[in-house]
Amino acid sequence: MCGIFVYVGTRNGIRIAIDGLKKVEYRGYDSAGIAFIEKGKIVCKKAVGKLKNLEEKLGDETATTVIAHTRWATHGKPTEENAHPILDAKGSVAVIHNGIIENYMQLREELEREGVKFRTETDTEVISNLIATVYKGDLLKAVQEMMPLIKGAWAIAVIHKDHPDECIVAKNSAPLVLGIGVGETFAASDPNALVHHTREVIYLSDGEVARIRPQGAELFDAEHLPISKQVEQIKHSVEEFSKGQFEHYTLKEIYEQPQAMRNAMLSRFFEDYGTVALDDLFLKPAELLAVKRIVIVAAGTSLHAGMIARYMLEEISRIPTSIEIASEFRYRNPIVEDGTLVIAISQSGETADTIAAVRELKAKGATIIALCNVQGTTLTRDADYTFFLRAGPEIGVCSTKAFTSQLTVLALFSLMMARLRHMSKLEGKEFLIALEAVPEQIETVLAQAMAIQHLADKYAHLNDFFFIGRRYMYPTCLEAALKLKEISYINANGYAAGELKHGPIALLNPHCPTFALCADQVTYDKIISNVLEAKARHSPIIALAFNDDERLHTIANDLILIPKTRDEFAPILASVVCQLFAYFCAKKRGADIDQPRNLAKSVTVE
Ligand code: M6R
Repeated sequence: MCGIFVYVGTRNGIRIAIDGLKKVEYRGYDSAGIAFIEKGKIVCKKAVGKLKNLEEKLGDETATTVIAHTRWATHGKPTEENAHPILDAKGSVAVIHNGIIENYMQLREELEREGVKFRTETDTEVISNLIATVYKGDLLKAVQEMMPLIKGAWAIAVIHKDHPDECIVAKNSAPLVLGIGVGETFAASDPNALVHHTREVIYLSDGEVARIRPQGAELFDAEHLPISKQVEQIKHSVEEFSKGQFEHYTLKEIYEQPQAMRNAMLSRFFEDYGTVALDDLFLKPAELLAVKRIVIVAAGTSLHAGMIARYMLEEISRIPTSIEIASEFRYRNPIVEDGTLVIAISQSGETADTIAAVRELKAKGATIIALCNVQGTTLTRDADYTFFLRAGPEIGVCSTKAFTSQLTVLALFSLMMARLRHMSKLEGKEFLIALEAVPEQIETVLAQAMAIQHLADKYAHLNDFFFIGRRYMYPTCLEAALKLKEISYINANGYAAGELKHGPIALLNPHCPTFALCADQVTYDKIISNVLEAKARHSPIIALAFNDDERLHTIANDLILIPKTRDEFAPILASVVCQLFAYFCAKKRGADIDQPRNLAKSVTVE
């Protein structure tokens, strides 16, 4: 869960590498470093903390082959020593690494027995030392020889003091993409980092190695045989990767939701027939009808999208659905019966827990559909079918537009399954008409941003919050609480409102507000009772309800109204309110919104 950027060319690569690192900094930001070769020696510059600390350490150095890294610590504290690049004991080889070497302890002990002195606590140091040990003048060969010795998920870039014009990159279960320029070649953890330099990219597959030089990349498969791979084009525009007029990526991405949702729906439904045709789903209607059970696996925000989808899939498609926390599921011994369809949801497509759960399910014969925002990722390759979210790059660490796009695609999928079973054309049409109206309704919510900011200003000093809701609003509460925790560092609990009285109500007091999400028509009367229970315990009440609400204005201290929609789509509108609330609370508290502490965008470790 770190960011890699490599430049090999003829220009001064140091500035280019730093700019490239800024694009992958979301992947980890507790320390950063670069290495290059100067007069036959490896020079390494590192700094703890954000990238700007590294920038401050740089002078007027120049180099044409540069490896650069931004770290999210796994093995060893975020210190300068543990920051990458990591050199071998003799200082000949420098390695940057994303991922985890599972057998590093054993390898380290073996190397130590041979007299190798280790300087860091990282697992990466075994890589540089193994390469140095087997190196006999050919860096490519040394990396290829080292690769079978390490176990785990990793992507690496390696330079050697005697090879000033080349870098060897390789990967296994961690992302790495090559950028092909004119007289210069790049590698990065994310194609977004390359778009300023080239649109031509090659995605490396597991076990593949590339020797990159200014004139291009030579590729080799796991058997060391030369291969050629298709050069793909990055589709996103440069603007999609910039903050534009917004202060933070997170805010920009919140505001992009109407368009992201329209993109997610585009050409995927037929309103006249009240039905859906999802591209890339090549299952025949008979196969979809044979689905007896759906298992959704995901983590974090994607898990919450899955929880909301469960209500839809059971209610409108009438398919028994279970939702599984990926990190727990992988350690169960799941029962996969005939007719089990798995939906794996992941914005990044690189979440290690989700991928591991998918592999377990696939090995047991389940069909896997992935819901993913990023193309060419591990999850999309493992899955049988992928629905892309088309939300555009999500750079803020907290997931916003990917979440609402996930809900949109999941709503379409639920409708498709329902129409194949019992739902009438007319009901399908009504569902679609309501869904099509949501992007404009989000715009109405966004227009209330100032009021939501005032609300956040009023409450941001408090340290504990409850979000309560029922049915569709329950997972929406979990997501709202996650947003508030993640970016404003406020302790927030999401609760099924009916559970409040079973214990957590003891925590309510005048300094612990209850944010009640009441936009669920089926359970409206019930949640009003829960709100009254909270009010009786002197908890300030912030209520969110549909705009035809008649009761809450006399009960709540503060009331936010959202446009009326079907209960299935209320989570989308309520979530936009809660995202803005979390954003403005974080802003008021001076938190680092796009890169919250201790976090990283894609969690590629267990
Ligand atoms: O890329 P994924 O959707 O698989 O990521 C899963 C979680 O790590 C992610 O949703 C995380 O919870 C977000 N930072 C929440 O905003």
